[in-house]
Amino acid sequence: MKEDVKEILLDENQISEIVKNMGAQISKDYKGKNLLLISVLKGSVIFMADLMRAIDIPCKIDFMVVSSYGDKSVSSGAVKIIKDLDINLSGYDLLIVEDILDTGRTLQSLMGILGTRNPNSIKICTFLDKPDRRAVPLSADYAGAQIPDEFVVGYGLDYDEKYRNLPYLGVLKKEIYSE
Ligand code: IMP
Ligand code: MG
Repeated sequence: MKEDVKEILLDENQISEIVKNMGAQISKDYKGKNLLLISVLKGSVIFMADLMRAIDIPCKIDFMVVSSYGDKSVSSGAVKIIKDLDINLSGYDLLIVEDILDTGRTLQSLMGILGTRNPNSIKICTFLDKPDRRAVPLSADYAGAQIPDEFVVGYGLDYDEKYRNLPYLGVLKKEIYSE
């Protein structure tokens, strides 16, 4: 796998520092609130596991699987729910946990869906932010790192379901995805 990575953007120590700081900020901001972390599978699974342990206030967790309709490059951005939440959201302060905020279409659509379920509040926490790629007016409330417009893998992020288990974040060599 390593040989497919052009460059390491964030190593394990840098990632752990970023996540620790995010957890501390969230713990401060959500003190006394009814925090529910919602992880969007599969990309956010490693970030979620680390982030929740960096949060030192009571919280609950749940998981969703969504997929976008049609070809991603031309889609309207509407998402289809493949696996829904198990919890009634009424009264919860939702924090959506994502691996990367790219065009923003997935999260915009998901926020719309969750917003109809009467939560107390909804915010976005993303490990990575690619602001150059944004197609809709959406910004993260918490973003671990801003990265340039390059295809990254590792720390949960995949290319064709591979590389999620790399412990660092790397830029994938172009020849891998243009093959
Ligand atoms: P969007 O913000 O709706 O465009 O989609 C975000 C999703 O696209 C993420 O949850 C990832 O699954 C995927 N994605 C976007 N950029 C990358 C990348 O650089 N590497 C791996 N997955 C990516
Ligand atoms: Mg993906």
